[in-house]
Amino acid sequence: MVSYKELGLVNTREMFEKAMAGKYAIPAFNFNNMEQMQAIIQACVETSSPVILQVSSGARKYANQTLLRYMAQGAVEYAKELGKNIPICLHLDHGDSFELCKSCIEMGFSSVMIDGSHLPYEENIALTRKVVEYAHQYDVTVEGELGVLAGIEDEVSAEHHTYTEPDQVIDFVTKTGVDSLAISIGTSHGANKFRPEQCTRNADGVLVPPPLRFDILEEIEKRIPGFPIVLHGSSSVPQKYVEIINKYGGAVKDAIGIPEDQLRKAAESAVCKINIDSDGRLAMTAAVREVLANKPAEFDPRKYLGPARDWLKELYMHKCKNVLGSAGKA
Ligand code: G3H
Ligand code: 13P
Ligand code: ZN
Repeated sequence: MVSYKELGLVNTREMFEKAMAGKYAIPAFNFNNMEQMQAIIQACVETSSPVILQVSSGARKYANQTLLRYMAQGAVEYAKELGKNIPICLHLDHGDSFELCKSCIEMGFSSVMIDGSHLPYEENIALTRKVVEYAHQYDVTVEGELGVLAGIEDEVSAEHHTYTEPDQVIDFVTKTGVDSLAISIGTSHGANKFRPEQCTRNADGVLVPPPLRFDILEEIEKRIPGFPIVLHGSSSVPQKYVEIINKYGGAVKDAIGIPEDQLRKAAESAVCKINIDSDGRLAMTAAVREVLANKPAEFDPRKYLGPARDWLKELYMHKCKNVLGSAGKA
């Protein structure tokens, strides 16, 4: 058993208290490899932003859980070396079992998500409660989820959102003891969050997706005032990356994300954590495609992963400064 405290990591409690009071959101960026981790830390040190390093079970399988743990430990030292001891949380994204959450806590994670959102309500409560009881013994914070996000990635078409039911939130947070609650108000995972026919066009001909359900968010806030809310599926899918990918041989079709002004508005509310993964994937892919298309003789990975890391850093700095408002809050 390794305590995250020995590694210099923090849980989300104080991060969320400050984010709530200061009307901003903490960035939760997913990482699977060294370049992503370097870009996240460089961007958050330079903007002086607290950060949640997020590891999915897919990331754990891809990169190896032990390596990721040591990378997060390294991230704390790297941030100090870059000149700023920013608060860094290591968080399990979409944990799907008690055993997985327990294993991450034992490895030094400071926060876990137990995602029981697909389970019947009472089963979601029981599983989440079990994780909370274990995690809180070690001062590890827990994120639960109520409501199901629609998703049209991976060929699995969950067309319909099951929006979070505001009348369930008091019961859920009381019975489970969770520290934060992920909700469903119209965001979804991946780069295809809306179909073009669901969108309207603005004066410049740009597709504008339907707005998030801020009415549901407000109802939730009324029932659990001051309780930290989490938004998953919050990539904005910058069209500049999609265009570069497609210009250099890619085939990313109908990619539409959550407009930044919607996320800005959410960050000013009880939303304390905003999850972003797909935008980083797009930025990296665009950079790698552009470099390799322009320099076809290049075969040193540093020559394309280096620019990919720079593009990622620029993206993350933009998120902290202009979207989430977390810049300057470390
Ligand atoms: O919400 C899911 C995250 O984007 C992680 O994705 O499971 O492919 O690592 P992944
Ligand atoms: P995106 O796919 O919109 O980046 O969402 C990521 C996420 O919610 C990770 O849990
Ligand atoms: Zn998610």
